[in-house]
Amino acid sequence: MHHFAYRDGVLHAEEVNLAELAGKVGTPTYVYSQATLTRHFQVFAQAFAGLEALVCFSVKANSNRAVLALMASLGGGADIVSGGELSRALAAGVPPDKIVYSGVGKAMTEMEAALTAGILMFNIESAQELALLNETAGRLGVRAPVSLRVNPDVDARTHPKITTGLAKNKFGLDMQRAFDQYQQAAGLAHVELKGVSCHIGSQITQVEPFADAVGRLEVLIQRLRDAGIDLSLLDLGGGLGITYRNEEPPTPGQYAAALREQVARLGMRLVLEPGRVLVGNAGILLARVLFTKDTPAKHFIVVDAAMNDLVRPAFYDSYHHILPVIQANGRGEVKADVVGPICETGDFLARDREMADLQRGELMAVMSAGAYGFVMASNYNSRPRPAEVMVHGDRWSVVRRRETVAELMRGESLPDWMA
Ligand code: LLP
Repeated sequence: MHHFAYRDGVLHAEEVNLAELAGKVGTPTYVYSQATLTRHFQVFAQAFAGLEALVCFSVKANSNRAVLALMASLGGGADIVSGGELSRALAAGVPPDKIVYSGVGKAMTEMEAALTAGILMFNIESAQELALLNETAGRLGVRAPVSLRVNPDVDARTHPKITTGLAKNKFGLDMQRAFDQYQQAAGLAHVELKGVSCHIGSQITQVEPFADAVGRLEVLIQRLRDAGIDLSLLDLGGGLGITYRNEEPPTPGQYAAALREQVARLGMRLVLEPGRVLVGNAGILLARVLFTKDTPAKHFIVVDAAMNDLVRPAFYDSYHHILPVIQANGRGEVKADVVGPICETGDFLARDREMADLQRGELMAVMSAGAYGFVMASNYNSRPRPAEVMVHGDRWSVVRRRETVAELMRGESLPDWMA
């Protein structure tokens, strides 16, 4: 469910006319719908009603401060993976005791910042990381709240680049190592064992992998209890998929139902780290057609958004619907490649797509771009990153202005021997 729809033949975000918006803000521009974000958060949170659950929005999916502030105002916490994300979450008003810190490579300075802020817990992924955290906490005179991230070796049945819970992936500790590490950790002076965590992958469209993972965690948790280690937090990560094209992922309700019994039996406080499912379909990327061009092989629609703005098609071969902003009467269909200005053959937003025959100057909306869109944007080809706009009913606000070319060179200097 989202709030992007045609009204009198013009695509709107809630009550905002996207053609008018593009005229004012320019393109490419990301547009987010506050009503959609709010609904997604609430539906997700309500699905877990009755279980003591904390929804920590995964900041990496969309780290715009307005998005984070909205999640915080709805009661959400944050799942972070860097000192940068910690700063953003705190700046947006996320309470520190609702922040969980994941990731395989936390630096000591990042650990210090998170310990000083007083976050809920660190999800630890290796023996060396645990040792460094213990040492760092000791130096600061605090105890670090810790959960170990377990790699349950389940197949999330998703794209290989975003599967994380297989034995061959870099993430987490296998069951036996996790058990050994818990025993080690129990003896560390500056560590407080809080919980167990896992995250098996992203864009998962079935419930079985999640249920499988919990089943395996349950075995470990039981073994730990028998060894006298009692954990209170169960962090199941994120990963619930969305519909980009014709996927039929479980609803948050079905997802929660599949886990409810096992989780209730464990009697632990639940932490969830949803990213995509909250923001993916709450955002679009607006772009304008620069040119069209025919070659002996293909029809190309060259637009002003490129792989630097939205890398998912290039990187994962992802499908994003493309809609004309203006539904012109009698416009034909074409089979086209929608490509950006970047000098790479991999720079495309759609390939061999049956779509509206858009002409030079016309606007398009690349749908489902709210997750892993702007956050993965780069400056490749010295392209400033797009603007971001939040829509709320008939109001809108630029929540990140378009980057300037001057900003691209900020921080660069010539060595003194060249100056
Ligand atoms: N928790 C952890 C520890 C994660 O690594 C991730 C995502 C999440 C939560 C949130 O997962 P979600 O609910 O969004 O599936 N760039 C890729 C997706 C990478 C996901 C990385 N980790 C894409 O565009 O599809």
